[in-house]
Amino acid sequence: MTIQFSTKIFPQADLGSQKSLKSSLKSLLAQSTDCLILAYSKVDLDSFGGSKAAKTKSGFLAELDQLLGGSVNHANVVGDLDSKQASICVFRSEKRWVTNEVKAKRVLLVGLGDLQLTSERTLISYSKIARAALKVLSGNAIKDAIWFVPSFSLTHQGSFITDEVRLTIQYAGDQAYRFGVRQPAMKFKAKDHPDTFKHLVFAGNDACSKELKEAVAQGVAMVEGMNLAKDLGNLPPNICTPSYLGKAAQGLTKKVGLKVEVLGLKQIEALGMGSFLSVAKGSDTPPQFIVMRHQGGKAGEAPIVLVGKGITFDTGGISLKPGEAMDEMKYDMCGAASVIGTMYAAALMKLKKNVIGVVPTCENMPSGSATRPGDIVKSMSGQTIEILNTDAEGRLILCDALTYVERFKPKVVIDVATLTGACIIALGHVHSGLFSDDEALVNALTKAGKASLDTVWRLPLDAAYHEQLKSNFADVANIGGRPAGSVTAACFLSRFTEKYHWAHLDIAGTAWKSGAAKGSTGRPVPLLLNYLIEQS
Ligand code: BES
Ligand code: MN
Ligand code: ZN
Repeated sequence: MTIQFSTKIFPQADLGSQKSLKSSLKSLLAQSTDCLILAYSKVDLDSFGGSKAAKTKSGFLAELDQLLGGSVNHANVVGDLDSKQASICVFRSEKRWVTNEVKAKRVLLVGLGDLQLTSERTLISYSKIARAALKVLSGNAIKDAIWFVPSFSLTHQGSFITDEVRLTIQYAGDQAYRFGVRQPAMKFKAKDHPDTFKHLVFAGNDACSKELKEAVAQGVAMVEGMNLAKDLGNLPPNICTPSYLGKAAQGLTKKVGLKVEVLGLKQIEALGMGSFLSVAKGSDTPPQFIVMRHQGGKAGEAPIVLVGKGITFDTGGISLKPGEAMDEMKYDMCGAASVIGTMYAAALMKLKKNVIGVVPTCENMPSGSATRPGDIVKSMSGQTIEILNTDAEGRLILCDALTYVERFKPKVVIDVATLTGACIIALGHVHSGLFSDDEALVNALTKAGKASLDTVWRLPLDAAYHEQLKSNFADVANIGGRPAGSVTAACFLSRFTEKYHWAHLDIAGTAWKSGAAKGSTGRPVPLLLNYLIEQS
């Protein structure tokens, strides 16, 4: 189910100015829509007054009350208006609305609380308000709605509007996503059918029209990228194989003009990716190495390179995992899915940057041809690796990809991987783990995370942790023991990234949800896109 998003500009509409308040409301209410969404603050409610007679009331709610023939006052009298943040009140059309040429079938008021104070205003509080309003729209009856953006942003600037609008679209996309509907061959449960609105119009005025249009276009592309990432993550591992990922990437050439190259076994061997191949060789399914290019910047401009871990199923190999929840190891390609989704979205939004997405992908299986604990392999970099645990396979496929990308002379390289269970222990399902020695990159990624509420938390990468990776028989061991498991995994990767600026995102706790709501989250597509947008 895809929702349509669009914009409509009411040039003079401004609910904050006494002068244009009435005419603004009139023109908004005159729209034929299933639901007009407006926000009100505690100040609006206070000036509407609790006990005053309707005639002496003033401000936004008073004008609205007049046009709605007393509906607002009635709601207030019975206690339905509340200065609490994210409180909701829905008015349904009544006969008396017609006299004032109100065409909206419903008016949804959502409470901002104290949000008109800049100090109280954060994207987190906005997100609660947006979610509450969107939830009302998820009923079957409402097909289209108008979201009057300036009412949420009365005292606020363009950049904030941009974050808010993108986030609203992101949440609407999350709300509308149904795997069973997008993949009808997989699942047909009736309840899987979407009962959500089909069209959301972001209304604005001249003061924010440019930001609004841009944010909607970016938000729409972001949802497309997230949906693709979610689909790839949720697909079963018998379907979503390395070749399937390769074909999915190749399909984007026709769709959005990405340049895609998929290397097979022979080419991977020729490149000397002994570490990557040591993981792939236990499986009957051949590995693939996917390179996707978006050429949105100048010809000579150094690219931003994204690398995604694409283990389409992680059994652990000979170091076999226990059976519990092993099905969730189909999600071990979510790094790859997020890179493919981000590349798709970057192309859709015609991002003015050169971006390259690289995905090493294979299965980690136990078999007669699988790598054993104790095996020593040679990576593409020339460093030898003693494989002490075949379940620490992500770093083994990533290290060769990280060497491969040197050829692009990248501006920065960011790898994304469901790398360690230890990251879930450290950060839970809230933040993705961020590892980097580059302060500017750490700041940019942290900021991009906050602006999309797809957040990261920095973990260390000190030299001291490298001690744990020492091997008696090779240049490096592939595990560093239980203490600081996520850090030693990142330290392992860092040994292959000396030629460029690099950051590693461990998304083990954030890429999918377990339990009744099991499913891919699409993270960190919003974070990566926000970062890319900020760079362009
Ligand atoms: N894909 C897993 C990490 C993982 C586990 C992510 C559970 C999400 C949920 C990774 O390949 C792995 O198995 N890592 C091992 C490393 C260990 C053997 C050093 C781990 O985390 O246990
Ligand atoms: Mn593993
Ligand atoms: Zn894994």
